[in-house]
Amino acid sequence: PLVTTKEMFKLAYEGNFAVGAFNVNNMEIVQGIIAAAKEENAPVILQASAGARKYANSIYLKKLVEAAIEESELPIALHLDHGDSFEVCKQCIDDGFSSVMIDGSHLPFEENVALVKKVVDYAHERGVVVEAELGKLAGVEDAVNVSAEDATYTDPAQAVEFVERTGVDSLAIAIGTSHGAYKFKGDAKLDFARLEKITNLLPNFPLVLHGASSVPQEYVEMCNEFGGNIPGAKGVPEEMLREAAKYGVCKINVDTDLRLALTSAVRKVLTEKPAEFDPRKYLAPGREAIQKIVQHKIKDVFGASGA
Ligand code: G3H
Ligand code: 13P
Ligand code: ZN
Ligand code: NA
Repeated sequence: PLVTTKEMFKLAYEGNFAVGAFNVNNMEIVQGIIAAAKEENAPVILQASAGARKYANSIYLKKLVEAAIEESELPIALHLDHGDSFEVCKQCIDDGFSSVMIDGSHLPFEENVALVKKVVDYAHERGVVVEAELGKLAGVEDAVNVSAEDATYTDPAQAVEFVERTGVDSLAIAIGTSHGAYKFKGDAKLDFARLEKITNLLPNFPLVLHGASSVPQEYVEMCNEFGGNIPGAKGVPEEMLREAAKYGVCKINVDTDLRLALTSAVRKVLTEKPAEFDPRKYLAPGREAIQKIVQHKIKDVFGASGA
């Protein structure tokens, strides 16, 4: 059934595991994720960004997710990823999403609070849950690379005030992750001391980790081997995600790894079989690659199998 994230986060919090939140943009991606979740009998969050809704047309995404729910009988949440205004959140709530993110992380604190509060009021009246963000992720959300962690990472005391004043259901925090395939120049590093503080100050409150792809080197190499050019791509080591799930982190966002898996599989077929032009012949391996990486995450990294 279509569910909110309430129950899955409660289970995740108590069981020290995390629910995977995977970005969906087309049918093969939805099917790959759902095949994995079915194999692992795991709850899953399918999330659509503004870009996804523009690319696929929101109604197609919605219907694909409906098909996934009907076919799998798993608990599935349909979530808006990085909603940037009250209006887009309202539209998704009215369209039947069970969860929305309002991302006011770029706003001054008081403006972020006011915007989130407005979305929460509208959403809660309609049984929809809300994710917000406090602190800035490097990269996509932050054009300049700010090195001072305290200026950008989530302030624990502020997080408490933010949650209390907004009534938000979950909170995305900044502890060193970033969007995309180039997360760290040198060694990977996350601020676990900060995560521990936030967890202790907000007991039983679900935290969200964005920018949490691991950028598996096997896929980077496969991409590059078959005509790609993504040297130096680097993600969050799986061990760090396992560690994060032991704290308040209940939702781990993954998009880049799906793109990498799909693209490297498609590149391989197109390179090895240049005469092939039936899209099914390269999209099916792409879909299988998505299933494989999602299943690995659910089972071996997030610990959500059978939850
Ligand atoms: O947070 C970013 C997600 O990977 C979605 O990316 O806006 O290109 O769809 P997108
Ligand atoms: P990645 O780019 O690390 O996959 O992060 C995705 C994300 O945070 C979507 O909101
Ligand atoms: Zn994100
Ligand atoms: Na956790």
